[in-house]
Amino acid sequence: MGIINKCLFPVAGYGTRFLPVTKAIPKEMLPILTKPLIQYGVEEAMNVGIFSMIMVTNKYKKAIENYFKPHTDIEKSIKNTTKEALLDEINYLGEWCNFAYIEQQEMLGLGHAIYIGKPLIGNEAFAVILPDDLCTNDGDTVLLQMTKLYEQNPDCCIVAIEEVMGSEVDKYGVIDGELLKGSSNAYRVHNMVEKPTPAEAPSNLAIIGRYILTHDIFVALERTKPDKNGEIQITDALMTLAKAGRVIAYKFQGIRFDCGSVKGFVEANNVFAKEQL
Ligand code: UTP
Repeated sequence: MGIINKCLFPVAGYGTRFLPVTKAIPKEMLPILTKPLIQYGVEEAMNVGIFSMIMVTNKYKKAIENYFKPHTDIEKSIKNTTKEALLDEINYLGEWCNFAYIEQQEMLGLGHAIYIGKPLIGNEAFAVILPDDLCTNDGDTVLLQMTKLYEQNPDCCIVAIEEVMGSEVDKYGVIDGELLKGSSNAYRVHNMVEKPTPAEAPSNLAIIGRYILTHDIFVALERTKPDKNGEIQITDALMTLAKAGRVIAYKFQGIRFDCGSVKGFVEANNVFAKEQL
């Protein structure tokens, strides 16, 4: 058993910024070169020794479930050809990992999606990856960097943050905090505001799609009221724990591509193409 054994992927959103393609293809199945975003997320989790993947999905997103199952007809048709290796790039995941799926029936926000995963988590801390935030780094992956910090602070939730431009803060949860003693990249969080206006934002440190959450986040989520749009925000639930000094924001090393936006998705493809083609 590792220090974190399960990773939850909240992938129930409709991906409306990518319409019309997301009418039939889940955003998480859009590829960076030939590999879908969801696989980069699963591989990042595996890199920390997590083999139990929990997908919070919806009834229109069966393509994600199918992707992680064997496709015997294709396997037969490319057996003993050079193309066999291409399929191995996905099939090995099925040998290593367990995949569990649970449906979020109403889109009531990221916090709600995470809460839906509760029955599959058990009484332990867990990781959360939003696959549309694609993170790369030459050294440790972002989740591995966070796991190391969690190991030193096992009572705390860890959220990944990055500096964004002042004009961009209204797309993110934004934190206010102070650096941990002796650290240059980990902050004890005092306050967090979801999608503030630039004037309201306590800093330009924005939360991105990587979290390590202690199990009592579920109690906090149960007590979290919906926001003005009727959504339950994970930021609001984390705020309850932050009040007790139990949230650390970590400025990770690496690059994040916001593949939930068309611009970020194209940028990621361009960078990967330059490196790999
Ligand atoms: P986003 O708002 O970025 O994703 O949510 P979206 O709603 O799919 O995309 P747009 O804005 O319509 O283009 C961040 C993450 O939270 C998940 C999404 O799937 C995405 O991974 N999410 C959001 C849920 O699983 N359920 C929700 O109710 C809301």
